[in-house]
Amino acid sequence: MDKTKELLRGDNLVVQFRQTQGFRRTLICPVNEISLAVAANEILGIVGESGSGKTTLGRALAGMTSIVRGSLWLKGQNVSRLSRKELRKYWSQVQMIFQDVYNSLNPIYTVEQQLSFPIQRHATPTQSVREELENLLQITGLTPTAAVRARLPHELSGGQRQRVAIVRALAARPDLLIADEPVSMLDVSLRADILQLLARLRNDLGLAIVYITHDLPSAVYIADRILVMYGGCLVETIRADALIRESRHPYTERLLAAARFENPGSSPFSGGGSANSSVLLTSYRGCPYAPRCPIAAQICSTTRPSLIRMGRDHSAACHALSGSHQAQSG
Ligand SMILES: Nc1ncnc2c1ncn2[C@@H]1O[C@H](COP(=O)(O)OP(=O)(O)OP(=O)(O)O)[C@@H](O)[C@H]1O
Ligand code: SF4
Ligand SMILES: [Mg+2]
Repeated sequence: MDKTKELLRGDNLVVQFRQTQGFRRTLICPVNEISLAVAANEILGIVGESGSGKTTLGRALAGMTSIVRGSLWLKGQNVSRLSRKELRKYWSQVQMIFQDVYNSLNPIYTVEQQLSFPIQRHATPTQSVREELENLLQITGLTPTAAVRARLPHELSGGQRQRVAIVRALAARPDLLIADEPVSMLDVSLRADILQLLARLRNDLGLAIVYITHDLPSAVYIADRILVMYGGCLVETIRADALIRESRHPYTERLLAAARFENPGSSPFSGGGSANSSVLLTSYRGCPYAPRCPIAAQICSTTRPSLIRMGRDHSAACHALSGSHQAQSG
């Protein structure tokens, strides 16, 4: 990526969690040496099945989860070196919205009450809170605005609630919006509207967006580039418009086989179940996809494959693409 356009960059990011199962304590790594960059005004899709580490990666990028190794850079500045004041600015520049909107809205406050505080906090001297609220409600299609402003969360549809969450995020005037499964709890009929809204916000406000989903077609529909995750690892990264023809990783192939492209957002979980959690253990050394990969060879269960550059904006991590696979399996 052209460095001048780079907004956010993560180098070799690692997030670990302790988990307890009965008497057993384990250490898992849902974000395992992931490097990525998001350009200004770009939509980056992060795709993978349940448990692959998408939300954890999103939270790490938003500064909501600590990274144990690696570094995060916003506009060329190392986030770990920011002062408290600069960090607060970072948290407003990188906003995150979630799939379960209902729980993130206060049930006893009207839309106007919920949104006035964040707008006030980030308001410019030239615009009143009311004007800014009106503007944001219009931009996000929450009309008629007078009626919407007076409603309580339970009086809104799921799609309207997600729009309110988007307004709350936009109130901070962010450069980057991290949208974690923003449509997966909505009726299929409403999903395309929210995806189109996100695409419009990128165009109209110049936002960059990280769109996290388990639904490959919706990511192909909305994103410029796609990162495919499996078992905490980045397994393939490719331009969205090249994915169908040129992707090479066996897991991406599997996602493609399960995808329903005619109706983005409607695929059942595209990939068949959730990732085998043992591949998240820090003690696991092989390719995360090895337990399910139809072409796994001996090397796959012992050695993690590195990302190999396949072309411009295209890399994949698979021994079968590097030649070492044949050497071991043959
Ligand atoms: N705070 C936490 N403490 C311990 N383990 C966690 C924590 N947050 C996430 N995990 C574990 O990390 C792994 C990855 O979780 P994550 O929520 O990032 O996956 P995901 O790809 O977003 O899945 P989904 O599609 O279901 O949302 C899971 O095994 C999860 O149980
Ligand atoms: S490295 Fe091995 S297990 Fe992993 S995707 Fe490639 S062939 Fe399959
Ligand atoms: Mg998640």
